[in-house]
Amino acid sequence: MIKTMLAKKIEKILNEQIQKEGYSSNLYLAMASWAEKEGYEGISQWLYAQAEEEKMHMMKFVHFINERGGHAIIPAFEQPPVQFEGIKKLFNQVLEHEQFITSSINAIVALAIKENDYATNNWIQWFITEQMEEEASVQTIIDKLNILGDKNMYMFDRDIMNLRGGEDE
Ligand SMILES: [Fe+2]
Ligand SMILES: [Fe+2]
Repeated sequence: MIKTMLAKKIEKILNEQIQKEGYSSNLYLAMASWAEKEGYEGISQWLYAQAEEEKMHMMKFVHFINERGGHAIIPAFEQPPVQFEGIKKLFNQVLEHEQFITSSINAIVALAIKENDYATNNWIQWFITEQMEEEASVQTIIDKLNILGDKNMYMFDRDIMNLRGGEDE
């Protein structure tokens, strides 16, 4: 069977994204664990679910690279932070991190176009949409937190999982 070879540059940038998505998963796991031990049950559930999604994103890159004739490399991951300075700051960190991921996805699109890799360009579009949704959903949470001020964290913690409604993966 003839395998379509990924250009080395494309294989490399996709492998770098494995690292980024895997780190995202671990970052949200670290946040979830902190929130859980602080007693924020709902927020920790949201973050644990987010960590699972990031694991799936990582796996999408693993399979795509291998199916396209490349070799997906599972890297070591940097240890994420252990302590977080409150719920608002935590969600601001999530938004900043997602914006960083969006820029890395955009860079993959740009390289795929430059290298005339239309298959990768087509495949990566799912992540463009996903990043728009993720940024919007985190922004919604931050807006709600701004309305609440630092009060009513109990209600927020109880209601946050309802904000996930309608998300597919
Ligand atoms: Fe992701
Ligand atoms: Fe994400």
